[in-house]
Amino acid sequence: MSSTANKPVKTAIAGLGRAGWNIHGRAIKQRQEQGKRDFDVVAVIDPLDERLKEAEATFPGCKGFKDWKTFLKEKNGAEFIVIATQSVAHGPMSIDALKAGLHVMTEKPMAMSVKEADKMIAAAKKAKRILTIHQNRRTDPDVHHLLHIFKSGILGKVFMIKQYSSHFARRNDWQTLRKFGGGTLNNTCPHTIDQLLLLLESPVKDVWGDLQACVTAGNAEDHVKVLIRGKNGRVIDMEVTSAYAFGQPGWQVMGTLGSLRQEGDEFVIKHLDPKKLKKLKADPSMAVPDRKYGVIGGEQLEWQETRVKAKDPQFAVNFYDRLYDSIRNKKKLFITPESVREQLRVIEMARRGTKFV
Ligand SMILES: NC(=O)c1ccc[n+]([C@@H]2O[C@H](COP(=O)([O-])OP(=O)(O)OC[C@H]3O[C@@H](n4cnc5c(N)ncnc54)[C@H](O)[C@@H]3O)[C@@H](O)[C@H]2O)c1
Repeated sequence: MSSTANKPVKTAIAGLGRAGWNIHGRAIKQRQEQGKRDFDVVAVIDPLDERLKEAEATFPGCKGFKDWKTFLKEKNGAEFIVIATQSVAHGPMSIDALKAGLHVMTEKPMAMSVKEADKMIAAAKKAKRILTIHQNRRTDPDVHHLLHIFKSGILGKVFMIKQYSSHFARRNDWQTLRKFGGGTLNNTCPHTIDQLLLLLESPVKDVWGDLQACVTAGNAEDHVKVLIRGKNGRVIDMEVTSAYAFGQPGWQVMGTLGSLRQEGDEFVIKHLDPKKLKKLKADPSMAVPDRKYGVIGGEQLEWQETRVKAKDPQFAVNFYDRLYDSIRNKKKLFITPESVREQLRVIEMARRGTKFV
């Protein structure tokens, strides 16, 4: 057993904003308040003095750094860093930190391109350090519940999944500017695409995307439509927009034996028992008897309806628990950089042919 086994992971956080402070600083603080001493914040990096002071006051022994290079030299004992700065900086800062001997978890988006992601993966291999990405929505229980439902066969062969997320939201922060890696495809869609690639259950065959800038300031897209087809023939229809003032149904799934739709916090599944379906053979007759539609001779489908809790807690995963196991107990990484590279490939394909390449 190594000398660090079971000791708190000495953590640095770069960028103390909405993600760095509100998500990561808070998660580590909450774990400590629950009596878990598995992560400790020993260093923070941010140009803003008041944010450094706030972190130093929250985590005893934590040292604030205004300058990235100074931190990389001193580290104050850090062995792991969370990078939660503007998206365009994730790649270069991850590589710097890996070279300085730190394990790295960068916020999404992992990188600005597949090429940059490859450099990060190579840097992690060379440094023999962990590189992971905060794809926290990969822990969402509804996604794992859907996978469980697909595997049960209740829907038959799943051939289409729709995921629409909409609101009408104006904004004008750096996330609306392409030079910082802003825009909906880099900001919200890394979560959505990450989940959808799990649900595709197949390598990606092709991708079509339409990006538009509609209601936000800046020069980045705020409306994203993407179609993804897997090599297994399954199609994903994804829409993430800041320019539609109505809500839309959550998950919708089509299968050859049934359909699933999210209603509030439930999945509603309408399904047929294949044993009760008579085998159909196409009838080539020129005229349809009695000018009727549907199955010739008539058929009454016996629909069954099942309602289940969408976010069933049995499918919940705790991100920081899994991370600790990878850093301290050498357990398989929950989010591998290679899996996120595939997401970046989809993002690049979705940009093709649009003005947001
Ligand atoms: N996983 C999630 O659910 C989630 C949620 C929010 C944001 N994010 C991601 O986190 C990243 C940060 O977004 P945000 O909303 O927290 O931004 P933010 O603007 O709220 O915070 C950015 C912070 O970084 C600091 N900063 C800027 N340049 C820096 C540098 N060179 N070194 C150190 N600190 C620097 C700023 O002073 C600020 O405190 C983005 O890439 C975003 O996509 C992820």
